[in-house]
Amino acid sequence: MLSTKATCNSHGQDSSYFLGWQAYEKNPYDPISNPKGIIQMGLAENQLSFDLLESWLWSNPDSAGFSAQNQSLFRELALFQDYHGLPAFKNALVDFMSEIRDNKVTFDPNNLVLTAGATSANETLMFCLAGPGDAILLPTPYYPGFDRDLKWRTEAEIVPIHCSSSNGFRITEWALEEAYEQAQKLNLKVKGVLVTNPSNPLGTSLSLHELDLLVSFISSKNIHLISDEIYSGTVFSSPGFISIMEVLKNKDLINTDVGKRVHIVYSLSKDLGLPGFRIGAIYSNDKVVVSAATKMSSFGLISSQTQYLLSQILSDKKFTKNYLSENRRRLKQRHEMLENALQKNGIKSLKSNAGLFSWVDMRGLLSSQTFEGEMELWKKIVYEVGLNISPGSSCHCSEPGWFRVCFANMSKETLDLAMQRLSLFVDSMPKTKDQIHRLKSLKKDLRKTKSLPKWVFTLSFTTTRSGMESM
Ligand SMILES: Cc1ncc(COP(=O)(O)O)c(C=O)c1O
Repeated sequence: MLSTKATCNSHGQDSSYFLGWQAYEKNPYDPISNPKGIIQMGLAENQLSFDLLESWLWSNPDSAGFSAQNQSLFRELALFQDYHGLPAFKNALVDFMSEIRDNKVTFDPNNLVLTAGATSANETLMFCLAGPGDAILLPTPYYPGFDRDLKWRTEAEIVPIHCSSSNGFRITEWALEEAYEQAQKLNLKVKGVLVTNPSNPLGTSLSLHELDLLVSFISSKNIHLISDEIYSGTVFSSPGFISIMEVLKNKDLINTDVGKRVHIVYSLSKDLGLPGFRIGAIYSNDKVVVSAATKMSSFGLISSQTQYLLSQILSDKKFTKNYLSENRRRLKQRHEMLENALQKNGIKSLKSNAGLFSWVDMRGLLSSQTFEGEMELWKKIVYEVGLNISPGSSCHCSEPGWFRVCFANMSKETLDLAMQRLSLFVDSMPKTKDQIHRLKSLKKDLRKTKSLPKWVFTLSFTTTRSGMESM
């Protein structure tokens, strides 16, 4: 008696990405009450700079208490219903978006549509651009939530643009054309390309070359480009972040037909670490898209008290400047901590410069170079090692053995423990020839670096300990 939508499984809830969360929820690690529980490393959450926001709230009790000049704003906010959003918030948000882009571009608040997070922004844009029988091209690996956000209710399809480790998962013209042809073979009408810049799960920002390629591609095919820039404020090292908006501006394309087919998605879930507040936005130069998306936004508005609070925080320019640079510094430090620990265990990852995660190459730990081998390793890591990480297959990666490992949703101590668990596991594993080779060359490199500590040389090549005795 239920609708097909309610009973179909295209939501993607049965993907290993969500199954890992369920495993974690049944047995969550807690240093005191459940020290042997699963550590959550599959959640792209930023908890590193909460103290900065808390301290702002502490010093601005009026804003946090919804009053101004000794007058309560309670009634005004409780009654506010305009789906265009609070003008003060939209102004503050576009300024913040410019600041993240080093003020190289500006955004017109009239082109902004507020949504309940980037989830709603992406779905709303899809409703504006595509429907059943249409396709959107997406570079792999991609954020597992896109299967739900872009396809489930809109009934549009995703066709993957296969990217490979051979060039660091970069987008190529060949891969774009191949995906376009594939969609046509499937009788789907291609409506656009969606990229995340910086990428989830890669943690890399798009190069100017890739952005140029994308602009030429959508221009020649007469299709749209959605640039999900939800991680734009997390870029912690070079190369920096180039927004698609900057590319359009430099090519003088903003108010052209091509410029109108480029749409940006943003949210404060990652840069400010506020996924619970549900603050997202669509930015588009196409008035028709802005108008349609604004009407649709009635289904997923941001509450007026949240808009008010954030308008106050984001208008404090001294605060936002300091927050952005301090948050980047903390992310960089955390990223280094994870990378160093992985390296000690002979595990490499993709060189990255942004995001809340690393894209880790565990091909050397697979029993076979297949997706079955990847699932086998993933289950061991979740249930035996006690770490919930996301397998590449849940991100539609076309090569087995890659995993997304999050580093910003836990304390340093928990990350340390997670790496100790991983280390014991790696020590306990029979090594493949490839891994022995990698460990040997790493050892050689380290010998050359005199300043490195002694422990680095104690890397084990044998299968000694059972691994998890001390867990
Ligand atoms: C690339 C990307 N887009 C969208 C989202 C959804 O974000 P929000 O919490 O703002 O809905 C996420 C969350 O992880 C994401 O990584």
